[in-house]
Amino acid sequence: MVNKNAIILAAGKGTRMKSKLYKVLHEVCGRPMVDHVLTQVEKTQPNQIVTIVGHGAEKVKDYLGDRSQYALQAEQLGTGHAVLQAEPLLKDEEGLTIVVSGDTPLLTAETFEKLFAYHHDKGAKATVLTATAPDPTGYGRIIRNDIGIVEKIVEQKDTNDKEAAVTEINTGVYCFDNQTLFKALHQVTNQNAQGEYYLTDVVEILKNQGEIVAAYRMPHFEESMGVNDRIALSQATKVMRHRINTLHMQNGVTLIDPEATYIEVGVEIGSDTIIEPNVVLKGNTKIGSDCFVGAGSTIIDSTIDDNVQITSSTIESAVMHTGSNIGPNSHLRPSAEIGEEVHIGNFCEIKNAKIGNRTKVGHLSYVGDATLGTDINVGCGVVFVNYDGVQKHQATVGNHVFIGSNSNVVAPVALADHTFVAAGSTITDDVPEKAMAIARARQTNKADYWQKLPVANDQDWQ
Ligand code: UD1
Ligand code: MG
Repeated sequence: MVNKNAIILAAGKGTRMKSKLYKVLHEVCGRPMVDHVLTQVEKTQPNQIVTIVGHGAEKVKDYLGDRSQYALQAEQLGTGHAVLQAEPLLKDEEGLTIVVSGDTPLLTAETFEKLFAYHHDKGAKATVLTATAPDPTGYGRIIRNDIGIVEKIVEQKDTNDKEAAVTEINTGVYCFDNQTLFKALHQVTNQNAQGEYYLTDVVEILKNQGEIVAAYRMPHFEESMGVNDRIALSQATKVMRHRINTLHMQNGVTLIDPEATYIEVGVEIGSDTIIEPNVVLKGNTKIGSDCFVGAGSTIIDSTIDDNVQITSSTIESAVMHTGSNIGPNSHLRPSAEIGEEVHIGNFCEIKNAKIGNRTKVGHLSYVGDATLGTDINVGCGVVFVNYDGVQKHQATVGNHVFIGSNSNVVAPVALADHTFVAAGSTITDDVPEKAMAIARARQTNKADYWQKLPVANDQDWQ
């Protein structure tokens, strides 16, 4: 196999994004654009990968880590100048070098492989990946001669009318003979409309030296889309979303309306799970088989086992075990762990708490910093009072406990197995096994109190 190297261009400012965030770190379906590019490049198994970084270099390096080497382009003088920064790392390499932009997040490894094959077949020193754009505005145009051979690439700002009308565009991906690339780059000048050193000029330089330069036109423009502004970012996201959703449906997941289902890259979903519209699944989320995720639910970095029913709820960094259910309108916050067959009903919030198997938290409750056993009934409106204004405290509840409605469980406190809390109690002391705790003022009825009320003489109240 031929020795292969890769250069990813990621030093440009991305002015057109009008953002504080560095362009290639803008996310498409949950991952920065440059991560998508690197992931596809990695699949082609290059010997060395060099990412060219500039402004915000630390952020890109922090994100990609040791998946790549880095070369700093201190000043953004153009794509040709950017590639030249990799010379110290790659100059002794024989074989191919592929150059890819960090802002083309939809390109796939299969397309790169086709480019390598085409380059090889043509015996070329440079091959450009091209596509036909419905609207080529903004892209470099591929200028071919009368018999269809590539002569040069002309940037949008340098085109004449005839060149501007060309719809075949440069995708910004190239395959070069490594040694030839760096030799030619030293001959690139900045005599153009933008005063930049264009990588694209290498094509004409090699042509003039009598080298073979080829252009491989990929069938689908969509995949080559370059993201320079927020409009393109939304378009790329839409294409990526469609790709992700199609894969899930092929794997046996029902998406009621794939156009309105937002699943990030890397989310796993088992077969026969049904997902309703306006569901957002993010980060490191795994959902099992035979689940139901109802309209309007958001699940982030969470693990949902098989047979779980989720109705219009938000789940973050939490776990739901087999057969449990939640919602509508409940919230699992970080480190909530919901046991098997557990029922979490409406308007409940669970945070940093473990709920044992078959326990029910049906309505309007807050459970924070607590460990609950199995087969518990938590009544309506129960609050685990975990915070004293300075510190969080833990509560523990044993198995087969009944906590009556509208009770407060003031931590630190422990309720042993088979205990019973009377409704409306404020529990501040531990409750021993099999005891009933009642902690509220006794009711007194004041006879004939009505007569003392000012309304007593009001005709309307009689
Ligand atoms: C570039 C191509 C254009 C092509 C388009 C495809 C050139 C001169 N033009 O234009 O022919 O149609 O991509 O999307 O190459 N970058 C650096 N350092 C720099 C400048 C840019 O690292 O000094 C990086 C950017 O971060 C980006 C990539 O190179 O990832 C492309 O730069 P960008 O400014 O987006 O070029 P385009 O105008 O899109
Ligand atoms: Mg671009």
